Amino acid sequence: MKIFIDSADLDEIKQAFDWGVCDGVTTNPSLMKKAVDKRVSAGEKLDLKEYIKRILEIAKGTPVSLEVTELTAAGMIEQGKRIFDMFNPVAGNVNVKIPVNPAFKDGDTTHFDGLRAVRALSEQGIPVNCTLIFTPEQCLLAAKAGAAFISPFAGRVDDLIRTKAGVKFDKTAYFPAEGMMKDDALVEDNGVVSGIDLVEQCVDVLNIYDFEAEIIAASLRNPRQAREAALVGAHIATLPFTVIRDMLKHAKTFEGMDLFTKDIVPDYVKMLKG
Ligand code: E4P
Repeated sequence: MKIFIDSADLDEIKQAFDWGVCDGVTTNPSLMKKAVDKRVSAGEKLDLKEYIKRILEIAKGTPVSLEVTELTAAGMIEQGKRIFDMFNPVAGNVNVKIPVNPAFKDGDTTHFDGLRAVRALSEQGIPVNCTLIFTPEQCLLAAKAGAAFISPFAGRVDDLIRTKAGVKFDKTAYFPAEGMMKDDALVEDNGVVSGIDLVEQCVDVLNIYDFEAEIIAASLRNPRQAREAALVGAHIATLPFTVIRDMLKHAKTFEGMDLFTKDIVPDYVKMLKG
């Protein structure tokens, strides 16, 4: 499973690539706002275009998602092309992130505009990351429209299930992949019992029909979810900086380092010196 960093924070992205385990970057409007606010509130006069170019250079050789803000098919296609033309020449690694359904409520007329944009941009050779996926059927439609990447939002499904179950929760707390019982029944969202269950069902849909798209398990908030995304066959997990960092921690690893270091035979070290 590839690991992307889910961040628009240049310092975090630099560090994650420096660790040698990062295979790409995903951003969204909220992550971009967080990164920009941080710099501006620190007194920096930010040139956003140059800032994004620096992200692309750091991630050179790996994909970076930049999201559209337009809400109609025509608007998303035009803006998606502009994003690609403006930024892909920097390092050849841009994909355009398009919401699977840009409508705000049922009854709006724009439901299929996202998929129309996915198809149009993909046909022009612009890779698309289709985002805000909450059902396996949305995933199927995104794959049929030609998306290169499809992003089911695991953590937000867990939020929904826990809210339906009426439990208080911390968004970063682990939620079991097998779901949660309430009144002797599994709490579910239309047959999906957890975020990892959604990821697994999306992976299955792509595998059964040999789609080339890759699943990006998104909205993951803790290391155990990253593990479970790997175990259900997600091609990619996009992870916040802190989750990538915490994946490496274990008390017995720290303790083992301490014990081994105390036991080092001085002659062994002397022998290995150049
Ligand atoms: C990534 O593509 C998504 O935009 C991101 O993972 C959403 O995460 P959140 O639900 O924690 O905001």
